[in-house]
Amino acid sequence: MNIKNICCIGAGYVGGPTMAVIALKCPEINVTVVDSNSDKINAWNGDTNCLPVFEPGLSEIIEEVRGRNLFFSSEIDESINKSEMIFMAVNTPTKTDGEGAGMAADLRYVKACAKNIAKVATDDKIIVEKSTLPVRTAEKIKEILNNEGNGVKFEILSNPEFLAEGTAIQDLFKSDRVLIGGDKSKSGQAAIKSLLDIYSNWIPKEKILTTNVWSSELSKLASNAMLAQRISSINSLSALCEKTGADIDEVSRAIGMDHRIGPNFLKASVGFGGSCFKKDILNLVYLCKYYGLDEVADYWLQVVKINNFQKNRFFHKIIKSLDSERKNVCLLGWAFKKKTNDSRESAAINIADLLVDKDINVKIYDPMIKSEKIFLDMKNLWNSKGFSKSKIKRLINKITVYDFHLDAIKDSDVIAILTEWEEFINYEWSRFEKIANKNYKIIDGRNILKHLQLQNNYYSL
Ligand code: NAD
Ligand code: UGA
Repeated sequence: MNIKNICCIGAGYVGGPTMAVIALKCPEINVTVVDSNSDKINAWNGDTNCLPVFEPGLSEIIEEVRGRNLFFSSEIDESINKSEMIFMAVNTPTKTDGEGAGMAADLRYVKACAKNIAKVATDDKIIVEKSTLPVRTAEKIKEILNNEGNGVKFEILSNPEFLAEGTAIQDLFKSDRVLIGGDKSKSGQAAIKSLLDIYSNWIPKEKILTTNVWSSELSKLASNAMLAQRISSINSLSALCEKTGADIDEVSRAIGMDHRIGPNFLKASVGFGGSCFKKDILNLVYLCKYYGLDEVADYWLQVVKINNFQKNRFFHKIIKSLDSERKNVCLLGWAFKKKTNDSRESAAINIADLLVDKDINVKIYDPMIKSEKIFLDMKNLWNSKGFSKSKIKRLINKITVYDFHLDAIKDSDVIAILTEWEEFINYEWSRFEKIANKNYKIIDGRNILKHLQLQNNYYSL
């Protein structure tokens, strides 16, 4: 099928950047990104300095292609119907109720997309799963499309996204691989070719891998699990380093120089965050249990358990360094990693929760995340724990968010580093002696301030 019009459902961290890059690299294709959240669509159509997603290099691309062959729209039905290929890039969070709650992926948004497509499509379409999905989801999507459709033909492809936030544009420009899973049938192979032709505009053919649908769906979950497993492995060893006098950065370097292991994803941290690692591993664990593979499920669950252990270990490091009457802790960083405006599942949220629970005043600064978002993150967490309105109000009063780092540092007993923002490395740390409280401690959850390690108030992981 010759693709002239693409519709992408979901204008989030994946839909926005991926479609911007497709529009840039394929000027002959019209790409429309739709979303049920009209505020988000308005923001995508607004000032490029305030796009809903911050990614280095993204605003420049949007300026070039928006209105040329990239459009953001709330006209979902119209956009679906005029497109030959439809990407589903909607969120797939962990289920919060019903069977599999707390583990399985919530497919309600994906199913809603399928129902919508089935309702409005009046000619044949290729449907592309861009969201991360449990293996065999394509089967369920097919069932909805065929049962509720208007007799038109749908071909379903799996094309998971591997971009990481903060480097999304460079990841999309130079993907390690593009994965396309499709049916072995003639029409399935033709659909694969249509998508392959799009990526071939900028991705070398040898990096485009075609598989069956189930391999593609599972490879995405497995990739995230393997990446997170490396972080939990190194974080688990950081605890042993603390007991033995070994240095985790030196150990990490020594391990990573073995070319069979490699250096990436071996940086010890306060614990991995982000919207996907935890939810995708839990989803994998659920699938393993579903298929009766309890040992395999336990193995992967341990990656999440070590991540929780690491966050708790960091919290106890803060508590241990506070005298009983000292109660001001400054958290530098709220984003789950540098170069993103995303704080989903950030370790900072858990640390703030644990501190506030101990009646400690938490003073927060992040160069990119606004105070409204930080308070919303905390309220969402406490609502999910079933806390009353009055309790949430009391807890919120223990938190202050600052626009300027010196205000957050002022009168602090502990300065804890939660995100590895460059600006934290470049601060003139010697100035803080006069601003923070006497005998204040620096607790570095990212090991980025090792140049301070000769100071007796500095603690790394
Ligand atoms: P997101 O929450 O940023 O965006 C999803 C968007 O879909 C939201 O704006 C929501 O309003 C919209 N939406 C939901 N249901 C809809 C519907 N029925 N009709 C129209 N719009 C609808 O999510 P995201 O971070 O972009 O992630 C999307 C998927 O991609 C997830 O499955 C995630 O696991 C996967 N993924 C994410 C990343 C990442 O870096 N964030 C990377 C790779 C894969
Ligand atoms: C991750 C994967 O890297 C992407 O390939 C994948 O597409 C994406 O999840 C997804 O499916 O959502 P992302 O979460 O954006 O990308 O960012 P990462 O760079 O993987 O970092 C995740 C977390 O791990 C961050 O909190 C980061 O600080 C932490 N991390 C990362 C470490 O603690 N140590 C490391 O060595 C690397």
